[in-house]
Amino acid sequence: MPSELQSRLEPVIPPTQGRAEIVLEDVDFGYPPARTQPGVQALAGVSLQAHHGELLAVVGPSGCGKSTLLELLCGLRAPDRGSLRCPPAVLMPQRDLLLPWLSALDNAALALRISGLSRAHARTRAAALFGELGLDGFQSARPHELSGGMRQRVAFLRTLLSGKRVLCLDEPFGALDAITRAEMQQWLAGTLAREQPRTVVLVTHDVEEAVLLADRVIVLSPRPGRILDTVDVPIEHPRGRTDLAVLELRERILHTLSVGARV
Ligand SMILES: Nc1ncnc2c1ncn2[C@@H]1O[C@H](COP(=O)(O)OP(=O)(O)OP(=O)(O)O)[C@@H](O)[C@H]1O
Ligand SMILES: [Mg+2]
Repeated sequence: MPSELQSRLEPVIPPTQGRAEIVLEDVDFGYPPARTQPGVQALAGVSLQAHHGELLAVVGPSGCGKSTLLELLCGLRAPDRGSLRCPPAVLMPQRDLLLPWLSALDNAALALRISGLSRAHARTRAAALFGELGLDGFQSARPHELSGGMRQRVAFLRTLLSGKRVLCLDEPFGALDAITRAEMQQWLAGTLAREQPRTVVLVTHDVEEAVLLADRVIVLSPRPGRILDTVDVPIEHPRGRTDLAVLELRERILHTLSVGARV
């Protein structure tokens, strides 16, 4: 039985069974030299897969190519080598990038407007979800009148309403304090569980967040980012940050990151 939220999130995405939805094989990517900067090899030999409905977290040190990986998945950049297959994907960038002159509601409705919906129709669709995201009463607020957490929720709503099969979330809670961050993690897990399945690639600095939310965690080395480990997280939801299984996986990933940083 589709949930109320699910039935309001069109278009319905037909399920694909069996084969992986995202496939990267031996992908390299480098930024060419510019006038003031030498070239930078961002990713090297990255191979990974994700099936429809999976949440893949990507962790790794700053500058190891995590945002670059999401830009490749969204088709904003092309690999230098190797192959990449990914259905239409939408990027929630590292900074919320809300348009300051638009209201919260119009910002949330932006992807729908871009996809061709009338302003009235797009606003109606976005408004229907405002309450569910704890944003009721703030439809007309401009981004500077919202808290950091509220801006992130508006940006997430815009991403969700794009109707794309794949959501690429770049540090969606990176700028938030610990309490708001924990609330947002719970809210994200709940929203994704209620909503029709999407494939999600979540970039985060926070290993605990990765283990709390993901089906699988990809651990990247310092630049050029290579995959050091792929960690399955076979733990039932809801997960608690002090659950033994969560703590064990968190330790394993932190250990891999610290060894990777010394190599
Ligand atoms: N547009 C660009 N032009 C040139 N170099 C870039 C560009 N974007 C990123 N880089 C370089 O590529 C490398 C990887 O950057 P990227 O933003 O993917 O890292 P990241 O893992 O997302 O880092 P962070 O955790 O700090 O967000 C860095 O060395 C960065 O300086
Ligand atoms: Mg980044």
